[in-house]
Amino acid sequence: MTRAIAHPNIALIKYWGKQERAGNLPATPSLSITLDKLETVTELQDADKDTFVINGAEREDAKVSGFLQRLRQQFDVPPLLIQTQNNFPTGAGLASSASGFAALMCAINEHASLRLNPEYMSEWARQGSASAARSHFGGFVSLVPPIWRAQPAAPASHWDIRTLIAITDTSPKSVSSTSGMNRSRETSPYYNAWVRSSGEDFTNASDALSRRDFTALGAATELSCLKMHSVMLTSVPTLAYWNETTLRCMNTVRALRADDVESYFTIDAGPQLKAICEPRHEDDVASALLEVEGVLDVLRCGLGEGARISS
Ligand code: DP6
Repeated sequence: MTRAIAHPNIALIKYWGKQERAGNLPATPSLSITLDKLETVTELQDADKDTFVINGAEREDAKVSGFLQRLRQQFDVPPLLIQTQNNFPTGAGLASSASGFAALMCAINEHASLRLNPEYMSEWARQGSASAARSHFGGFVSLVPPIWRAQPAAPASHWDIRTLIAITDTSPKSVSSTSGMNRSRETSPYYNAWVRSSGEDFTNASDALSRRDFTALGAATELSCLKMHSVMLTSVPTLAYWNETTLRCMNTVRALRADDVESYFTIDAGPQLKAICEPRHEDDVASALLEVEGVLDVLRCGLGEGARISS
């Protein structure tokens, strides 16, 4: 049996949209932080046929089967019993596909002795789910052209950033990221502007990261999030991933800022809000979010490690 662990990552500069060619190549560069605390644990065993069990329930998953099929075109990978467990809500905008494909790739690499380094594992994981490419590294991670393999942008030791996740609804999202992105490319009048301006957002955030300028990193983070959601909202039919509680949390983060508790939000393809802050503000941000009407829980994370084998 082989066991791997991977953590979800949260994009500060978002990936939303794909290039129109093979390989699941993003249309925009992205910059993320890998979280600690939340994790996917994936165990592999040889089997007579592929079986995928997630959180105790057997499932047919087209993305997982497609991923295995692609890998087998190049590598000798036996039929597998894949058992995977998340310690957080699955498919609800908490990047479970990122940690899921990173853990799966890392486990297969070990189990089938593929001997790929994290950059190459990242390239394969990207083909399963592009955000998964970033979970192969810890700390701050970038996913950029032209190679589109994730790379470390800065280690966790560079800057202690905390993430508070306000859980507003744990049900799975109604439209997957993959189909949402295709819909946005085909229908949003803002899609091209989003793609064109994404390089500048990435550069601003990367510069802020290297000088540890939290105000500039936070501003770039919120702008990227709001631009992405503008594209989502103007897709036809609309992709409205927020609920009332998400909006209340956004206002709470803005109010905290006005009160000198510096925090910035980001939101993915789901209704959970993620607030980033420096350690001195963590308690204030966590308690303010917990008080928001409709917030079910607030998860506190620091920066975590990349995908790895666990004994
Ligand atoms: C909003 O990586 O889930 O979280 O490549 O189609 O599997 P696929 O999409 P996925 O999309 C993540 C989108 C996002 C932003 C981000 O993580 O950069």
